[in-house]
Amino acid sequence: MNKQAITGMAALATLYQPKIGFGDQKSARMVLGTVPVEQDGSAYFKLPVDKPICFQALDADGVAVQSMRSATYVHPGESLTCLGCHNSPTNGYRMGNTSATALRRAPSVIKPDVDGSKPFSFPILVQPVLDKNCVACHTKSKADGKKCPDLTQGAQANNGDFFTSYNALRDFTFFWDNAGFDNVPDSKPGQIGARNSRLYQMLVKGHHGLKLSKEDMHRLTLWLDCNSDFYGAYEKLAEQKEGKVVWPALE
Ligand code: HEC
Ligand code: HEC
Repeated sequence: MNKQAITGMAALATLYQPKIGFGDQKSARMVLGTVPVEQDGSAYFKLPVDKPICFQALDADGVAVQSMRSATYVHPGESLTCLGCHNSPTNGYRMGNTSATALRRAPSVIKPDVDGSKPFSFPILVQPVLDKNCVACHTKSKADGKKCPDLTQGAQANNGDFFTSYNALRDFTFFWDNAGFDNVPDSKPGQIGARNSRLYQMLVKGHHGLKLSKEDMHRLTLWLDCNSDFYGAYEKLAEQKEGKVVWPALE
């Protein structure tokens, strides 16, 4: 490696601070919530204005099938259609087209998701699930190196960036830097998020007789679908790590 490349990497390492998760320089996110999709595939809902929004298509269990990697915005009073972007430029689409079921009713209001999804927080969203369902087998004393990882939150005093459990699950998660298809214009169902993570696949197959409640499984898949991040904001990391609710300053 030449010297210039090393300097470049050092600069990037500084740029990516503070790290909010495994991925480099990805925008912190939160889950606004979900809206119903009609039988014909249509949806119609109100969005908060002037916020970068990214859509995910979910299955009946709330697991992402496909996910936008870019963001879109709405401005006050503006109506936006998915087809405005997801359509051929010559095949125009107008709001008010009554063939879509969802457009014949009032817009849905976004239904917020579980605690720890808004603002986003691994300590609130995921660690309670691990404490309740996993640490009986996955404690430090029983942990057998990588084979049976330590899924406790670990010592707060060590001032590490993340929980022990979070670091231990890295290879089993999904995040953009390990996804390997940034240069592809579209993705195939199942390539993004939980469905493309070893953890989800392992739990769905069955894991040492483990029975997760619907909500606990949802908490894990929501995390994996959201880039498997740890922090939901770039500030007050210590407070976030203690499980306090911290709203991003730019929100
Ligand atoms: C009844 C005990 C038990 C429970 C409960 C349990 N595990 Fe495990 N887990 C094990 C054992 C034993 C291993 C090592 C052998 C293996 O790979 O299955 C393991 C391995 C793993 C591995 C590593 C797999 C690999 O391929 O290296 C992960 C990740 C994991 N568990 C996650 C979890 C999570 C997350 C939970 C809770 C949602 C959980 N486990 C609950 C017993 C358990
Ligand atoms: C401002 C333009 C724009 C709007 C509006 C928009 N999208 Fe997207 N969408 C894109 C672009 C560009 C991509 C491909 C790049 C990416 O993954 O972000 C995409 C990708 C996606 C994907 C991933 C599919 C794939 O092939 O990877 C889904 C799912 C999606 N959009 C859903 C929606 C839904 C649902 C709506 C409306 C509620 C919507 N989008 C509105 C621009 C838009």
